[in-house]
Amino acid sequence: MEAVELIRKKRDGQVLTSQEIRFLIQGYHQGNIPDYQMSAWAMAVRIRGMNARETVDLTMEMVRSGEEVDLSAIEGIKVDKHSTGGVGDTTTLVLAPLVAAAGVPVAKLSGRGLGHTGGTIDKLESFSGFETALSTTDFVRQVNELGVAVMGQTADLTPADKKLYALRDVTATVDSIPLIASSIMSKKIAAGADAVVLDVKTGSGAFMKEEKKALELARSMVEIGHRIGRRTVAVISDMSQPLGYAVGNALEVKEAIETLKGDGPRDLTELCLTLGGQMVTLAQRAASPKEAEEKLKAAIDDGSALEYFRRFVKAQGGDARAVDEPDRLPQSPVQLPVESPDYGVVTALDAEAIGLCAMQLGAGRKTKDAPIDYGVGVLLRKKIGDVVHKGETLAILHANNREEAETVRERFLNAVTLGNQPVTPPLLVRELVTDVKAE
Ligand code: URA
Ligand code: CA
Repeated sequence: MEAVELIRKKRDGQVLTSQEIRFLIQGYHQGNIPDYQMSAWAMAVRIRGMNARETVDLTMEMVRSGEEVDLSAIEGIKVDKHSTGGVGDTTTLVLAPLVAAAGVPVAKLSGRGLGHTGGTIDKLESFSGFETALSTTDFVRQVNELGVAVMGQTADLTPADKKLYALRDVTATVDSIPLIASSIMSKKIAAGADAVVLDVKTGSGAFMKEEKKALELARSMVEIGHRIGRRTVAVISDMSQPLGYAVGNALEVKEAIETLKGDGPRDLTELCLTLGGQMVTLAQRAASPKEAEEKLKAAIDDGSALEYFRRFVKAQGGDARAVDEPDRLPQSPVQLPVESPDYGVVTALDAEAIGLCAMQLGAGRKTKDAPIDYGVGVLLRKKIGDVVHKGETLAILHANNREEAETVRERFLNAVTLGNQPVTPPLLVRELVTDVKAE
């Protein structure tokens, strides 16, 4: 087999066999196929596409390129959740203890944030002492004993995906549905879950800004899951404005605590119940998503979800007192209110721009190894559809110093659009993808 033949075949719109895809991915992973040939192939795929069978083959070859996490020592159906990345997306912090309280084992590998979206590991590390570098043995033991554990990825999962993604990033081949779907699903499959709930975001702060594309991506991932025997569902959710009010690590932890107490923002609560309802149903702890949601609401009302959160933080070495005394979490020295320059209705809140404001304040990483500041971020006071008076507070910027806050103020105001007509807030949960018709 020659790589050039396979590039030509895909360039001409033909379908590659499973053996051909294996040859390309393993060859690239082992260094026998150079970057320039792999880039040409990725561009051919970007333009010509791949069918579902090819996409599954690509996914599985990337899984085979590295280690797979073995969760078989954990009893019950393990359900993972994945978000394509949002701004102020605090759902995992809420869902991990909430779903565990409903009897679903949560064994979650999470990442650190990069760019304008935050990572769950960073948020959890807002608790002083919180340890995310667990051994697989301790990870499995904690899930069996407590029902929930979250750790940073240490094993060498899907190295072929890592190499290919880096190449796609610099060759304008990231935005290909089959390449994205296989990249995301390979990581979920290698992480060992039996079932997966995908939160595919759409809107200004999302990776897939167009809803039609988000739906296409969701369908492709659900189909991969089904074809390889892992139950998979996807929820398409709005990311045209940040989720909840808090954007920033410790600020989001506080928001998660409020939500676990039943006092959280409406949109964050609704999304957690929707995603959690799917997780509990896939784990066969409820007969329907509706019944599952009732179970989750009960776990919030009777305090058990919050109790799981306390135990979870404590088990991983964090200062669990902060769950009940959130002032123990990192706080920023400066809190600058941003006043509205006019009277009006908030018609747009550019999520990506607000994510970048939080990052500029120090909440996110500009490079992979940069340190982050847990206390800083943006705390919104208004969301789309709210009326604001001139001089009223739109948001509070939590910053390290006044100068930085002043610079970000301008940037924040540019992310807000005021109008003079009432607007309906965007619909949060757009669609549920549970099945894909055979081709
Ligand atoms: N996220 C991924 O993990 N992979 C992609 O290809 C795109 C987004
Ligand atoms: Ca939030």
